[in-house]
Amino acid sequence: MRLLTLVFLGGLLPAENISAEIVGDRDAGRKISGQCRTCHGADGYAQIPIAPHIGGEPESYLRAQLTAFRDGTREHEMMSIVARSLTDQQIADLAAWYGGHKVTVEMQADPSGAPELCVACHGADGIHLIDDAPNLAGETNIYIDTQLKAFRTGKRVHETMSAVAADLTDEEIRAYADWYAAVKLYIETVQ
Ligand code: HEC
Ligand code: HEC
Repeated sequence: MRLLTLVFLGGLLPAENISAEIVGDRDAGRKISGQCRTCHGADGYAQIPIAPHIGGEPESYLRAQLTAFRDGTREHEMMSIVARSLTDQQIADLAAWYGGHKVTVEMQADPSGAPELCVACHGADGIHLIDDAPNLAGETNIYIDTQLKAFRTGKRVHETMSAVAADLTDEEIRAYADWYAAVKLYIETVQ
């Protein structure tokens, strides 16, 4: 019972915990982003295959994920350590900095082949169509695969995505990951 309650809260907390009244300062975020660039680049274009691109993601999504890593509702050996000591203000600043860059994409395939189950929220090209969903365009297939399996096993929890991933087979996960990984992503730095 207790476990169930915790799991349930885990899905809700990241989004609801965010204090909307804290306004992110991009310039402050740019300074703190020095701690992030070896893995995510200065503008959020990932430098290592297991890290996601975070430039141009919705600010609310970036805030929610950093808060989740800090509070332990999302776990990762690198990110849990990175986020542990960030204040709400620093999280807002970092989200403002990374979220403020511009993304453009180039599709390699006919959009009609996009996964039907995903396009309503993530687009055929992997650019989010709803506010709290992340971009998937150009993420490595390793990253996408890992996240979908984490949602499927319950290691990562989110109301919608846990339900979406619950019934996916390994083959479907690989196909969806390959689809979005094949989109070329460009991030234009906005100072
Ligand atoms: C040592 C490498 C490393 C450093 C340094 C690092 N990250 Fe990460 N980051 C990762 C990895 C790997 C993941 C993927 C975690 C997972 O698989 O759940 C990640 C995930 C994230 C995510 C989730 C993105 C998404 O699409 O869900 C955000 C946001 C993020 N990092 C922001 C930051 C910020 C801001 C900093 C600097 C304060 C930072 N990271 C520093 C490696 C790093
Ligand atoms: C109804 C909307 C919706 C649908 C449909 C949906 N997603 Fe999502 N997706 C989301 C939201 C919202 C999140 C953010 C979850 C969070 O905050 O942890 C997300 C997160 C993800 C992530 C994590 C990305 C990252 O950067 O960490 C992946 C991967 C993903 N979705 C893949 C898919 C795939 C593949 C499909 C189709 C099989 C799909 N999603 C269908 C809304 C949706």
